Amino acid sequence: MIIIKNGRVIDATGDRTADVIVDDAGAIAEVGADLATPAGATELDAAGCIVAPGFVDLHAHLRQPGREDAETIETGARGAALGGFTAIVAMPNTAPCMDSAAVIREVLDLGATAMCEVVPSAAITVGRDGEALSPMAELAGLGVRIFTDDGTGVQDDRLMKRALEYSVGLAPATGGAPVTLAQHCEVTSLSAGGCMHEGEWSSKLGIPGQPAEAEELMVQRDIALSRATGARVHFQHMSTGRSVQLIRDAKAEGLPVTAEATTHHFTLTDAECASYDPVFKVHPPLRTEADVQAVKRGLADGTIDAIATDHAPHTQSDKELPFDQAPPGMLGLESALGLALTELDLDIAQILALLSWNPARIAGIDDRHGGPIEPGRRANIAVLDPDHEWTITGEAMASRSANCPYEGKTVKGKVRHTVYEGELVVIDQEAQR
Ligand code: DOR
Repeated sequence: MIIIKNGRVIDATGDRTADVIVDDAGAIAEVGADLATPAGATELDAAGCIVAPGFVDLHAHLRQPGREDAETIETGARGAALGGFTAIVAMPNTAPCMDSAAVIREVLDLGATAMCEVVPSAAITVGRDGEALSPMAELAGLGVRIFTDDGTGVQDDRLMKRALEYSVGLAPATGGAPVTLAQHCEVTSLSAGGCMHEGEWSSKLGIPGQPAEAEELMVQRDIALSRATGARVHFQHMSTGRSVQLIRDAKAEGLPVTAEATTHHFTLTDAECASYDPVFKVHPPLRTEADVQAVKRGLADGTIDAIATDHAPHTQSDKELPFDQAPPGMLGLESALGLALTELDLDIAQILALLSWNPARIAGIDDRHGGPIEPGRRANIAVLDPDHEWTITGEAMASRSANCPYEGKTVKGKVRHTVYEGELVVIDQEAQR
């Protein structure tokens, strides 16, 4: 048993000061003021802290199978737990790719002992090659609810339309639960060869750019295809002002679209690339200050539903390559909360909605994550100290990689304890296993 004492409990139903008791079966047993500590219970002090449903990351690259030198499911999940996440959606661009029942089963098996729930997504197309659909019904039968070719977008309009039509018909394989196609929006005929945002800075630096339109055209296409098919589309890592506006309009029209923004796309701009440091190389690229402001407005007004990390570990030897050759991507799981609390001018409940209950709903795991802190719910809980100041360092993170773009930055807000399925996986900022 665990008792979390004197915290400010915030969930989708509101805000109150209460103690929370978690039973040995991993469920929330009691929530109320001044509860007596049950005999033998571990007592956690949450004075000055917020007790919230655990966070859900819709976008994490865990590199297993295939690049265990950069990250494993175990190490990625440990970082996630330290960041307050109780569930993370694993991206399918592994080697081999997550496009078959065998690989999905492997990820599920490895995730079973991890420090948070590892929710596999699966590729839309075989090998993420954009040519033939993956066995979506079989994969949905294994529990997959998000399909994506992330790392690349589905280029072929007709194939994407087929995939969307097919996703609507998957209800028998899922027992009626909806399936969502998530898109990495990038038209490669426009982006090919580009290593950063195409604009003033790319011209100055002489680094080939990816134009904003490479993203926006695919956002526009998939909104049209969602309208035509009635299928759910989730837009991954939205990075430009026009993308945000397109999604705002699509939502106003009532289309079943959702969107995420990463922490780096609301905190960093393309000016960072002036260092020529590949730690700032990411796809989609860091954009302009105006785009950053537009993404922030999208997060504030509900156009963007979720904060995602796009946690993308890369080994030091890979990231030490010259800017044009280095792989894109940056770490995100352990810094997300601090960046959101420090950089977004939103109230805490709004930030928690973006980190917890909204993404839980999109991932289709809201039966066990992101729900209200109330008796009977699974105990997936983050206890965070919103006033704790700390300095971000890649080397101190649980990840096998250290490609963190916020080296030396001081932020306010850190996870203190994390409870996953009733297990105390993080106590006082320390991972317990
Ligand atoms: O920056 C990125 N890194 N963007 C992607 O689309 C893929 C990801 C990765 O896997 O490293």
